[in-house]
Amino acid sequence: MKIIEIEGQKELTGTIRVSGAKNATVALIPAAILTDEEATICNVPEITDTEALCEILEVLNVKVNRSTESLVINPKDMINTEIEEKYSKKLRASYYFMGALLGKYKKAVMYFPGGCSIGARPIDLHLKGFEALGAKVTSNKNQYIVEAEELKGANIYLDIASVGATINIMLAAVKAKGTTIIDNAAKEPEIVNVATFLNNMGAKITGAGTSRIKIVGVNKLHKCFHEVIPDRIEAGTYLIIGALCGNNLKIDNMIPEHLEALTSKLEEMGIELEKGIDYITILGKNEKYKNTNIKTAVYPGFPTDLQQPFTVLLTQANGKSKVTETIWENRFMHIPYLKDLGADIEVKNQTATILGPTELKGTQVVATDLRAGAAMVAAGLLASGTTTITNVEHILRGYENIIEKLTDVGAKIKLKEI
Ligand code: EPZ
Repeated sequence: MKIIEIEGQKELTGTIRVSGAKNATVALIPAAILTDEEATICNVPEITDTEALCEILEVLNVKVNRSTESLVINPKDMINTEIEEKYSKKLRASYYFMGALLGKYKKAVMYFPGGCSIGARPIDLHLKGFEALGAKVTSNKNQYIVEAEELKGANIYLDIASVGATINIMLAAVKAKGTTIIDNAAKEPEIVNVATFLNNMGAKITGAGTSRIKIVGVNKLHKCFHEVIPDRIEAGTYLIIGALCGNNLKIDNMIPEHLEALTSKLEEMGIELEKGIDYITILGKNEKYKNTNIKTAVYPGFPTDLQQPFTVLLTQANGKSKVTETIWENRFMHIPYLKDLGADIEVKNQTATILGPTELKGTQVVATDLRAGAAMVAAGLLASGTTTITNVEHILRGYENIIEKLTDVGAKIKLKEI
């Protein structure tokens, strides 16, 4: 079993370089099969979610070549075969193979995806989108067979601005006959990155990043070279860690515009930031942070994926702060462990009320999901004594070289096999 051990209260100073975005990469890899030619994707993070998707590529007989930070995907000899449950359940993003296989072969056979247990996470909007394009969906227990004689462009309104459904429908529609319009599309930067990739391969997608995306179907996609955008959630996690323990901590290779919802809250709390074109430096640790409230929302609102680490910061704010989670039903699993560390938090319905400041003292905690794990790392770095985190596989799914990156700036953090 792998654990992370942190000796807290070390001042963090220096530079942390942000990796490529997990949630863009996990869609770009399945998207690459839409051509028969080679796609080179650089700035790919080395995380276990990337490995899990590469395993699926191998099942589909797609050649994958990995060099430092780049991935060359060649689907020339690809076969369309069932993706077994043992592969799909490793991560949520396995479902992007549904849209990609449907778009390429008009048939996909796979199982319900896995991923963090942060809510029911249905895929009804994805399936409705495929059906609107002319596909028939048959499900048997966890298995889904999605097939079409022909895919035809359609007008699709998403009841919820879902990131996954927006991308999956784009993947299925790029080679459909005619024009597809997705209304109430999600606007996350990862969606823009995926649309740019598809356009680099010859797709005709406009409007990505707005709530209306137009896709004019094309017959063929070709080889391309593409770069993954910096991971805004990883950058945000390190900014929060910097606000807790940093002194001149520079978070480099990021896009500050992608994190305005977070940085405006940090500034409101009294945290001093220096913003550059592609970096933000946390200038120093302030003794008294102002309390504040956050409510998670779709982009450009406050990202749900930063809600859990941000809760840790609020334990250090003066007075009462509130965190309201509106995207996922079950994203407060980190709270009992923060309480074990000494935080004063009450959860009622979808709102956590945090009373601060409280001293945190190291103890044994669990990374119940990826961002809960990030919250535990942030709390452990702040707490006195030793914090031991179990279930760290969740953390390694999404944070490239987290141990090395934090060690390099002065943290005492170790990944151990016990
Ligand atoms: C993506 O999940 C991210 N995952 C999540 O990041 C992130 O929390 C989420 O978007 C919101 O930003 C990946 O990109 C792989 P949604 P996704 O579809 O696409 C409901 C992380 O920590 N919904 O936008 O699965 C759903 O239940 C992860 O990196 C339906 O009801 O999220 C949720 O309440 C966790 N039916 C809401 O929509 C559907 O068919 C938003 O989900 C689809 C979604």
